[in-house]
Amino acid sequence: MKPRALDLFCCAGGVSKGLADAGFDVWGVDIRPQPEYVHSSRFVQADALAPPFDLRAFDFIWASPPCQPFSIGAARWRTAGREYPDLVAATRDMLDEAGVPYCIENVPGAPIRADLVLTGPMFGLKTNRRRHFEIGGFFALNPPMRPVVGPKNGRDYFTAAGHGGNGTGKASVWAEGMGVEWIKTRETIAQAIPPAYAEFIGRAAIQHIRHERRAAA
Ligand SMILES: C[S@@+](CC[C@H](N)C(=O)[O-])C[C@H]1O[C@@H](n2cnc3c(N)ncnc32)[C@H](O)[C@@H]1O
Repeated sequence: MKPRALDLFCCAGGVSKGLADAGFDVWGVDIRPQPEYVHSSRFVQADALAPPFDLRAFDFIWASPPCQPFSIGAARWRTAGREYPDLVAATRDMLDEAGVPYCIENVPGAPIRADLVLTGPMFGLKTNRRRHFEIGGFFALNPPMRPVVGPKNGRDYFTAAGHGGNGTGKASVWAEGMGVEWIKTRETIAQAIPPAYAEFIGRAAIQHIRHERRAAA
């Protein structure tokens, strides 16, 4: 039986796609409707901090709480007085309580441990998109760091907002560069995690889950 993963704060499912590629059966939860969610039959609209499941029914839980309280991109809105709730500590408490192997993902500057630091060039992607990952209950090694991409070393790259040194702001080109070709809207692409990151971490989690299953057999 395939191991089961829950993707909390899933948006259109960049992470869900990567976890499925790693070998998980994946369910996604988001508080807003997600018409572009990658596996539409497995989407549940709910508050990720009060999900309508027993979390212990999953083998692995991923959580990507909103990054706006910490991101550089939202700094100007915070300076202008807009307030964003920090859901990281409540998410971690919930995952600790469940006792299931987990990963919390966020931007640099977020209050999570940077157990892993991943960037696009590590996976051959045309975007830097540096993200931090706190993992619990299993172990993974970081891939070797790679030089950042940008105007100085090539025109074929994309910024976090989808603008590229290749001179195109076309959403489809940007989505392809991130590996999220099924997402069509710019705002949703902007929120996505490249599936390659989640696949990498998901494979490490699956190794651990299989080892535990063998040990218990
Ligand atoms: C950065 S996006 C996640 C990106 C996603 N991991 C991916 O790979 O595409 C954060 C998401 O959290 C959702 N969100 C915000 N507060 C939430 C809550 N309390 N419960 C569930 N989802 C929430 C937002 O609607 C948004 O889609």
